[in-house]
Amino acid sequence: MVLAAGSGSRLAGALQGRAKQFEPFDGAPLYWRSAQVFAQSGAVGGIVLVFPGSVREAEAARIASLPAGDDLGIPWIAVAGGAQRQDSVRLGLAAVPPTVRHVLIHDAARPFVSAALVRRICAALAEDAPAVIPGLPVTDTIKLVDAAAPELVAETLPRHRLRAVQTPQGFDAALLREAHERARDGDAPATDDAALMEACGHPVRIIPGEAENVKITNPQDLALLRGPAPAPMPCSGLGYDVHRFGGDRPLMLGGVEIAGAPGVLAHSDGDVLLHALMDAILGCASLGDIGQHFPDSDPALSGISSALLLDRVLELASGAGLEICHVDMTLVAQKPRLAPWREEIRANVARLLGLARNQVNLKATTEEGLGFTGRGEGIKAWALVSAARKAGD
Ligand code: CTP
Ligand code: MG
Repeated sequence: MVLAAGSGSRLAGALQGRAKQFEPFDGAPLYWRSAQVFAQSGAVGGIVLVFPGSVREAEAARIASLPAGDDLGIPWIAVAGGAQRQDSVRLGLAAVPPTVRHVLIHDAARPFVSAALVRRICAALAEDAPAVIPGLPVTDTIKLVDAAAPELVAETLPRHRLRAVQTPQGFDAALLREAHERARDGDAPATDDAALMEACGHPVRIIPGEAENVKITNPQDLALLRGPAPAPMPCSGLGYDVHRFGGDRPLMLGGVEIAGAPGVLAHSDGDVLLHALMDAILGCASLGDIGQHFPDSDPALSGISSALLLDRVLELASGAGLEICHVDMTLVAQKPRLAPWREEIRANVARLLGLARNQVNLKATTEEGLGFTGRGEGIKAWALVSAARKAGD
């Protein structure tokens, strides 16, 4: 019996009110996976699907129109369930032919049940056990709380004696019918069928369950139905910038002021290294260059700290799903000598990017007296950024 008559109230918000057992999974509604797994076991002779009364006919029609390859290969019937899980089981049992000796009750919300587990339950039932259920030792310590004040602990249960139980649960069909009839007008509905057998004094045997056999219950469980997120796409971006020496604006490199160096002419603070870096980041995100985002003509940007512009670039990049993995930079200047500043600049760039120091590299070189850097007229910088970009962004 595959139970699919619940309303999935704990998931209603995440699924816009749809009941979880009808979520698409592998090209069919979720409940179908359980039916297929049960049909794989030679011990299962037929399947009762229990649906909310309002959709029973529509679901039966949908199953009948599934492609031939999806045929269960064993008889099935769709019946209407009730208000509580216990009612749904009782109504389902009424549709099980009286000649059937054993019945397995399964929650459609556990689509990862394996055919091996179904077989183990059947094998244990064949040894004449009236009730067989899968269970796992618990890892959390479980507290019993006060009935009237649930924020207070009443008792700590001994963990080594606790088992978290799953479905499918297997039963002697006649005994289970009887147990359900007896429990019919009880006060609190049972959350599993074994509890009703226990109440009748029947021994309930536990066999090992499966950790994968989780019940889709809360919003975070939905990720299990969606499959792994697509792998992020590796990408890289290149940045290059030049500044002419002159004036008295102090030379900033990677957000560090280089004392005693020639000044630079620039609209912003003239940090040639951060400018190359920002262009490289924008390159990774396919977002153009800094000139497009921060035009020279904008008076608000006059003298602005490049570290502030970098913050804005990082915001754009994270909006584009970018995660920076590594940065490699080269500064080219005849003067000043940069080696003494290298570690300080590297650490500051790592800090501004929120990266570890080993994700950032900085090199410095001269151009052997050649060209404008060689003549001491200016400074240039290259930056290469490697990143991962979330698919779809
Ligand atoms: N179920 C059922 N009939 C009911 C209630 C529940 O057939 N009246 C089924 C559910 O469809 C599910 C299984 O029992 O496959 C286990 O119940 P649960 O995970 O509690 O599902 P829901 O009751 O649907 O969800 P919720 O408790 O969050 O409302
Ligand atoms: Mg429920």
